Amino acid sequence: MKKRAVPTIIGNWKMYLETEKEAITFIKNIERKLSLKKIIKAKYYLAVPDLFVVTLAKLAKKGFIGVQNISGLSGGAYTGLQTVRTVKSVGASFTLLGHSEVRARGEDGDILAKKVSISLKEKMMTVLCIGEKERDTQGNYIAQLEEELRKNLSLVDRSLFDNLVIAYEPIWAIGKDVAATPNECFEAVIALRRALASLVGIDHAKKVSILYGGTVTKENASSFLKEGGVDGLLIGRASTDASTFSDIIASCHYKK
Ligand code: 13P
Repeated sequence: MKKRAVPTIIGNWKMYLETEKEAITFIKNIERKLSLKKIIKAKYYLAVPDLFVVTLAKLAKKGFIGVQNISGLSGGAYTGLQTVRTVKSVGASFTLLGHSEVRARGEDGDILAKKVSISLKEKMMTVLCIGEKERDTQGNYIAQLEEELRKNLSLVDRSLFDNLVIAYEPIWAIGKDVAATPNECFEAVIALRRALASLVGIDHAKKVSILYGGTVTKENASSFLKEGGVDGLLIGRASTDASTFSDIIASCHYKK
């Protein structure tokens, strides 16, 4: 597949940065560091706690601020939740969905399929996270990934695939010391691309970027783009330090 000109590098802050002050300092630093590095079309994405969106979306000139989850509801009597339209209206440009940490807290497949469908209908860039718990030597994990993808996208019309991004995040590689290898990543990416093509046809499938996530560091980041067949990265811990995150962005972009 032809490489996309600008990789999609997304940081997932989870609950690592807890105060608005820390978050503002981060954005100021990353903006400055990226300007100094003179990277052509440098762009970054950050999935932040909902309450930071308003302030950070105004400060991030080279970046896009998004959220880590949405409710999957479209308004009404639901105390304590927000709709996609609400987070969009205050500056969120994208949402993560189906992260394994959310799934582990009990998100069920039907609710997730609804969230993906509502988010895409609202034309929100939607980053669907998918990954196997463990890897078996017979390759059964491939069938599980394909099945999961089919279920999660079961309510989505193919015309809405333009705003869909898939993040391949093997659960066994998240928050660990060792990432998947680019080769392990490549095998899963091929399977996901094949499943997408069989769902919606090759033309729609080609529009979907696939990212890798799971213990990405500044040392291994570019190897996933060069050898792992992905169009970008979804990064947890290494996205919480502006210096490390900007080094990763630089290692994945072409320079002037
Ligand atoms: P780490 O990069 O900290 O392993 O987290 C990956 C992740 O869960 C990104 O969504």
